[in-house]
Amino acid sequence: MVYPVKPLTKIYENPDELTRAAAEESVIRINESLARRKTCTLVLAGGNTPRPLYQLLATEYAHRIPWENVHLYWGDERFVPHDHDQSNYRMVRESLLKHISVPSENVHPIPTEHPTVVDCAQAYEIHLQAEFRTEFPEFDLVLLGLGTDGHTASLFPGTDAILEQENWVCASEAPDPPKERITLTYPVLNSAKSVFFLVSGEQKAEAVRNASQEVHDRNACPAAFIRPERGQVIWWLDRPAAAQLSEEK
Ligand code: 6PG
Repeated sequence: MVYPVKPLTKIYENPDELTRAAAEESVIRINESLARRKTCTLVLAGGNTPRPLYQLLATEYAHRIPWENVHLYWGDERFVPHDHDQSNYRMVRESLLKHISVPSENVHPIPTEHPTVVDCAQAYEIHLQAEFRTEFPEFDLVLLGLGTDGHTASLFPGTDAILEQENWVCASEAPDPPKERITLTYPVLNSAKSVFFLVSGEQKAEAVRNASQEVHDRNACPAAFIRPERGQVIWWLDRPAAAQLSEEK
């Protein structure tokens, strides 16, 4: 499989430098979208790695982002209440939303209050369809993390989610609790204009190498199949996470 637009890999000495550089470029991309079409759709990653970036966007960089024109979405969510300590919504609320003035109608969390995880995925799909109307969602900037097993968002090896080619959102299952997840799918993620992977730590080095290689089996490394047709992928790595990349990268 060939990248339509060759991904960039940026390597930094430590997570702080990685985060600062990624925050700076995120601000640039957000403002480029705003200059182009007066709005920006930003998909937020879950997990722990992006938290310091959200904290930077909420403080040092907040004045450089006209939040009233930015719409925030989530790439995936755990099937837990939004005030649960494992909720990606809660992580973003604590690190970003509480500290900025963004209109509530610009914040699009994945719902988790419906009876089943499939109901939640369907509800978010309906919400996205209402937001994007006839357009296929082409998010301006998608932030993603990477698991040691090569998963990204909640596209985990061995799940039906990595086979989904029609729906924009689907249910998924993580190997570790909270197991029930909701995730954006490849069709949507691969329609993004920019995708930033934020990865730090030696424990991710093998998954980073796998994701950079020609992989033909999605189970081997789901993140390797994030190949936007027209979008730019940038891997924001610290040196330990990049340790297994060959020199020419
Ligand atoms: C989640 C994320 C998931 C995460 C990776 C990396 O809901 O947990 O969407 O894909 O990005 O598991 O997580 P860390 O950043 O915590 O290592």
